[in-house]
Amino acid sequence: MKEKLEQIKEEALKQIELTGAAGAQALEKLNEIRVNYLGKKGELTTLLKAMKDVAVEERPRVGQMVNEVRSEIEEVLERATEKMKAAVLEGRLKAETIDVTLPAKKSNVGHRHPNTIALEEMERIFIGMGYEVVEGPEIETDYYNFEALNIPADHPAKDEQDTFFINGDFLLRTQTSGTQVHEMEKGKLPIRMIAPGRVFRSDEVDATHSPSFHQVEGLVIDRHITFADLKGTLAEFARELFGEETKVKFRPHHFNFTEPSAEMDVSCFKCGGKGCRFCKGSGWIEILGCGMVHPNVLTMSGIDPEEYSGFAFGVGLERITLLKYEIDDMRLLYENDIRFLKQF
Ligand code: DAH
Repeated sequence: MKEKLEQIKEEALKQIELTGAAGAQALEKLNEIRVNYLGKKGELTTLLKAMKDVAVEERPRVGQMVNEVRSEIEEVLERATEKMKAAVLEGRLKAETIDVTLPAKKSNVGHRHPNTIALEEMERIFIGMGYEVVEGPEIETDYYNFEALNIPADHPAKDEQDTFFINGDFLLRTQTSGTQVHEMEKGKLPIRMIAPGRVFRSDEVDATHSPSFHQVEGLVIDRHITFADLKGTLAEFARELFGEETKVKFRPHHFNFTEPSAEMDVSCFKCGGKGCRFCKGSGWIEILGCGMVHPNVLTMSGIDPEEYSGFAFGVGLERITLLKYEIDDMRLLYENDIRFLKQF
């Protein structure tokens, strides 16, 4: 009996010692040992049950021995468990520590696209002159995009704009000029508006063309508006956009919806007009089309050309952006390459 007890004790203590590295598993193992040795069906309990075979006078001594072994195992188990729990906790704390010295994930703050910056600059200039900013639809009827602008069916001017038709009547607008008609039809005069927006043409992509780009349309209608108003307004616009020294030049041109019509050039802001690579040696840079609103256009929109007159202009937004930032390929504006965009 005595040897058996000694043997049980040694085995138990050895197993406790061998439970191994800290971890939830080791704690389970310790619990297993407790059950195996001290539990209801454990080895010590089984041994106690065998007491009936021990001589009566021996029983107190053996009983005491069993109790001693029991408390020794219990004590060692208790200590090992405590130690293991502490080790497990420490391990967890270590694993869960936040390293505050680690560099944080950078969140990139976006900013406005160069086209937007240029547009806002233009809006600022015209709002300063009392203009309203309006918008027209990107899907237009043939009437607003062509007819009402004095471009009848079969007119050769229609050929100049390769159009995305949706069906016979509807199309993606090729120009923002239709917005003029929408505004005039509202019947509220005078009008002083700019209408920025996206336009579409069936053009091949290259450094200066894109099937989708932007224009800024302008329209002024009032009594006694003359070409002098057009000239003064657009010259002021050019000076604000490109600098005080900027000169403007009007070259006769043809647009169906204006008469007379012109294209406006600005003196090259790079060389001051002497001629450089930027202005291709001419000293001038073309920036917009303009003219006095054609009487037919006024009449079709319900305005009496005998009483009212007006001027209109159309600027390619991308053209302004490219000039302003000296970018030589329009495609860069649409590719969304962050290395390009973050320079503005
Ligand atoms: N819509 C013309 C174009 O896309 C630009 C234009 C020229 C607009 C003269 C105007 C204007 O309002 O008066 O080429």
